[in-house]
Parts: sequence; C-alpha cells; structure tokens
Amino acid sequence: MVSAREVIDLLSQPELLENFGEELPLIDHLVQTSEVLWHDSGDCELAVAGLLHDLGWWTGSNESQHASEGSRLVRELGFSERVGQLIGLHVTAKRYLVRTDPRYWGRLSKESRATLVEQGGQLALDEVKRFEASPFFDDAVRLRLADDMAKDPHRVRGDIEKFYPIIAEALERAH
Ligand SMILES: [Fe+2]
Repeated sequence: MVSAREVIDLLSQPELLENFGEELPLIDHLVQTSEVLWHDSGDCELAVAGLLHDLGWWTGSNESQHASEGSRLVRELGFSERVGQLIGLHVTAKRYLVRTDPRYWGRLSKESRATLVEQGGQLALDEVKRFEASPFFDDAVRLRLADDMAKDPHRVRGDIEKFYPIIAEALERAH
C-alpha cells in the first residue's frame, strides 16, 4: 500500500500539468472534481475517487479504457474496492446520464461530447437497469456530475497538500 505522501508526490508529477483534451491541466481538473465532492459530501473515499478518477489517462489509456485502467491503478495503490468501483464507473455514469437525463447533454464539455461514441455511446436499456442496481450507483453519478463541473480553466488551484488528510483517511479505510 502507498502512503498519502506518495499519492501527493504522484499528483505532483509534471505530466499532470499538461492539458488532456480539455482547456485546463489534468491536475486542476482532478483538484476541482475532488473539491466539489468533498464540499458536498465530506466523504473521503468519494473525494479521493474524484482526485484520482482520470489517472488512467496518464498511463496512456484510450477513451474506452481509461476508467477501468484508473480503477485497476487505484486498487493497486491500496485504495478500497469502493474507490476503485467509483472510478471504474465514471464513464458508465456519463453514458447513463446521456440516456436518462435530457438536460445532461447541455452540461457536457465539447470534448466530453466528442468522446461519447468512442466510449460506447449511451447505455442500452438493460445496461441502465444493471447500473441502477449497482450499490455504487448514487455515488458514481455524483462523481460524474462533479467531473463535468470541474473544468474551469480560470479557477486558481490551491496547494494539493490540503488533500493529505483526506487521502490518508481513505487509505486507512481500505485496511
Ligand atoms: Fe474527468
């Protein structure tokens, strides 16, 4: 299992300062996602899922695989099954919301609209039912909605050190 310090170091790598298709650096997007979730829920695992949800990009995954690759990575680091599942479902949640919420399309960024087809398009009805039955359904949707809100290129990123206790608590919960 990694330490919270190692996760902060991982997030401090210069590669995360690069944009990833959106108009802001990947680290800013991750921080903004996590801030929304932490503010709204106070749930350290959900906040950490937000903070690490796009790590799959970093290891060179493609559109359709970055969620499952990110899920695998965080479990390998020692985070819980729940953190892994939430990350693994963040593309499914997008495909679900496109299918079930007519207003959702308007909330998606240009980039996110463009990648939908490659990610499998909207969910089929049987997939909708299966996803709704998942014990991770509510939180996966929350993560996704925070993800979509977290793309402000003008918001100043604070010190990521503030996530240290949240990461440490999430790691502790996994064991
Ligand atoms: Fe994202």
